[in-house]
Amino acid sequence: TQSQPTIFGMPLKYVSLVTLAVQNAALSIVMHQSRVSTPPSLAYSPASAVLLNEILKGSISFVIALARAAPQSDYPRHRSSILNTLQTFPYPWTPTFWSLCREILSPDCWKLSIPALLYVVQNSLQFVAISNLPVASFQVTYQMKILTTAAFSVALLRKKLTSTKWLSLFFLAIGVGIVQIQTSGVVPSTKPVAVGSAHEYHHVHEMNPLKGFGAVTAACFTSGLAGVYFEMVLKGSKQDLWVRNVQLSLFSLIPALLPVLYSSSPPNSQGFFLDLFHNFGGWAWGTVGIQVFGGLVTAIVIKYSDNILKGFATSLSIVLSFLASVALFNFRITPSFVIGASTVLAATWMYNQPEGSEPRIVLTNLSG
Ligand code: C5P
Repeated sequence: TQSQPTIFGMPLKYVSLVTLAVQNAALSIVMHQSRVSTPPSLAYSPASAVLLNEILKGSISFVIALARAAPQSDYPRHRSSILNTLQTFPYPWTPTFWSLCREILSPDCWKLSIPALLYVVQNSLQFVAISNLPVASFQVTYQMKILTTAAFSVALLRKKLTSTKWLSLFFLAIGVGIVQIQTSGVVPSTKPVAVGSAHEYHHVHEMNPLKGFGAVTAACFTSGLAGVYFEMVLKGSKQDLWVRNVQLSLFSLIPALLPVLYSSSPPNSQGFFLDLFHNFGGWAWGTVGIQVFGGLVTAIVIKYSDNILKGFATSLSIVLSFLASVALFNFRITPSFVIGASTVLAATWMYNQPEGSEPRIVLTNLSG
């Protein structure tokens, strides 16, 4: 069993779930704005954003892992380990550094290569999706990852789901379907749409909802598989969460670096390093910052809750994104959007009902 840590006196499990819901809503809005607020000639490279995300997340995780591994000897246990690290600097910090490096490069670190690759693909697909769909539609459709996560949890983690939970997953799929129909009507694939807030209608950004939905669907599969795989590796060994996170980021660097290396350099190239930040404005940095934060919170959520609960918590972000879309992007409320989004929320509520006395449909791994 897991000890339940607290933050400001509240259980970390619930704080991280709520934080993730807000982070998800913020990410889809800022990411969408970062893609559509500039003409294509001034757009930043999503490949650079994915790479920077991994570098920053990996570095932060390394610092946290180092602080946690710092010797505690002379100080009371409640003292912050970061403070301990600084006060004992530079010795015995150096051996801690090297032993942490050895731990990161432990023989089983290869296990993280699978979720690492899947997450890089997912993070790239997210850019395609968000550039081709209205924010609220992206958010609702992305909830399909709850379905894929549940399927992978049953298959790989041997989780058992009651019939009520399966029924709620079915309603979730129906709700997402309704929203999709609505979106195809709102944004015709052949016509460009004006984007930005009312005072910001500088240019027209072309959206292709079919491409957007294709990207979201693929991202739902990678999200489900990567999340469950990460949970399996994390809970199947004693290694620290932050060490696992560093391993994840290290393996992500390879697939994240390849598209950057192979993309054509901008017309007035200033060398690899500066080209990486080409056209990186406030929205782009905002996107990367929120992604990094989200990655760290996701890891905490997977450790202290689980992937299925994570999916339902983030589905609450639909309401936030929806309200923001109406205010910022002139998103049109249609009856089918309201019906679809309400079905998704009702399914969320249903999934989280305490288990009753209904007969359980127990589905386990076929090989088990
Ligand atoms: O949509 P989903 O919840 O699957 O997204 C997970 C996000 O969290 C991905 O962007 C992934 O890169 C990130 N993540 C992370 N570290 C983990 C687990 C997920 O950065 N340990």
